[in-house]
Parts: sequence; C-alpha cells; structure tokens
Amino acid sequence: MNIKDKIDRNNLPQHVAIIMDGNGRWAKGLGKLRIFGHQNGVSAVREAMEGAVELGIPYLTLYAFSTENWNRPKLEVLALMELLVTTLSKEIKTFQDNGIRLNTIGDIDKLPKNCRAKLIESMELTAQNTTCVLTLALSYSSQKEIVDATKEICKQVMQGNLDIDAIDEKVFANHLYTRNMPDPDLLIRTSGEQRISNYLLWQIAYSELSFLPKMWPEFTREDLYECVYNYQQRERRFGKTSEQL
Ligand code: FPP
Repeated sequence: MNIKDKIDRNNLPQHVAIIMDGNGRWAKGLGKLRIFGHQNGVSAVREAMEGAVELGIPYLTLYAFSTENWNRPKLEVLALMELLVTTLSKEIKTFQDNGIRLNTIGDIDKLPKNCRAKLIESMELTAQNTTCVLTLALSYSSQKEIVDATKEICKQVMQGNLDIDAIDEKVFANHLYTRNMPDPDLLIRTSGEQRISNYLLWQIAYSELSFLPKMWPEFTREDLYECVYNYQQRERRFGKTSEQL
C-alpha cells in the first residue's frame, strides 16, 4: 500500500504550515546562484498545494518571505519579488482548477507596487474558491503580529469598547492576522534546520512539528503525505494523560 492510501481521511490536519527552507543551499550544491534555488522552489510550492488539495486539507500556509529577509542582498530580494509576480500569473490556473483561495499574512504594503497589485488581483480572482485556503506569509514577522494585536486591543480598551477582564486567549487570537483560520495542526520545515524563525509563534502552541532533512526544491507531494501519515501516528494529548483521551 502506498503512503497516500494509508492516510486516515477522517483525521486530517485542518491546517498545515510550512517553512520552505534550503533553496539557497540546494542551488549552491549544484554550483548555481541562490535564485536558481528559489526558481526551483516554485515546483515544490505546486507539489505542496496540489498534495494538500488531493488529501482535502483546507488550510495551507507557506512562509515565503520574512521581515528579516529584507536584509538579504538587494538583488536576491528583487528576484524573489519578481518570481512571486511571475508565479502568481502562471499559477492562477492551478488555483482555479483546484479551488484554491489565495490569502496573505504580513505587511504586504512593504512589497513593490507591482507585486502587491498582483497579489490583490489574484486574491480577488480566487475569492470564491472554497476547497483550500493558500496563505502566503509575506514580509511576515510573528513577533510584529503579536505586537500589532496587542496595540489594537489596547486601543479598544482605551476607547472603552473592551473590558480589560474580557481579554483572554480567544480575544487575543481574534486580533491576529490569522483570525479567520484554525491554528496549524502540523508545521513542516525542510532543510534540516530545527527552529521556528519568527513564524506563527502564538498559533503553533500545540502544533505537531516535522523537520525534514531535504531542501525545499526537492519537496514533493509524497513528502507531504508522509508528514501527514506520521502526524496521524502521534498522540496529541493537549496536556491531558493518554487515559483521558
Ligand atoms: C528559504 O530558503 C526560502 C525563501 C526565503 C523564499 C521562499 C521562496 C520560494 C519557495 C519560491 C517562490 C515562492 C512563491 C510563493 C512564489 P533560503 O533561501 O533561506 O535557503 P538557504 O537557507 O539554503 O539559504
């Protein structure tokens, strides 16, 4: 039996978040420029999207560009932004054929004008799709997201619209960029690095973590299936004992 057939369709992660890491090292290993790695990372993005749709995972969130990534060489940043624009143009058919709705988290106002415009256009074009929400984290910092939520809550308290004692985890979560989606059940990171890198820090409180040694351009839908299958073998206790489950 192949790995996909072993997956229990009644126990799928509702939200899979991925840190797509290792493009640069993969390219360097082939004696190529870093951007070659990013270009080849696009087919892995397609694999992840189509794999998620095939399984029936309703939310997929990809870490495409962090606020810290702005500190990379100017040329690499520009190339990544251009790659985003061309990829969105090329993949619109993949989105429509698979019922994928595009969404973003992060400060997209910081992106170049043409990039922001392409994102907005793609979000509008796919707004009615309901099979899977593909969220791209762009110019994203989880710490900033938490600070933004805190500021917004403070404002509401100061304006008398929110009682300080009414602030709880649910109210806080409702002020994050991810307010309309469930927390990730599964977080995957490629490239062998085992860290979170300022990604969805609040939301992954109880996520299962999968660290894969392969580099992002090598990621295929079979890797996603394997991560989902492994996830299903774990016992998620949420602080309870095994006997209580
Ligand atoms: C991390 O690898 C990858 C990124 C910062 C960019 C991710 C971009 C893509 C996968 C391509 C395009 C994506 C979309 C959504 C169009 P790295 O450069 O940090 O690799 P390294 O750690 O080996 O240097």
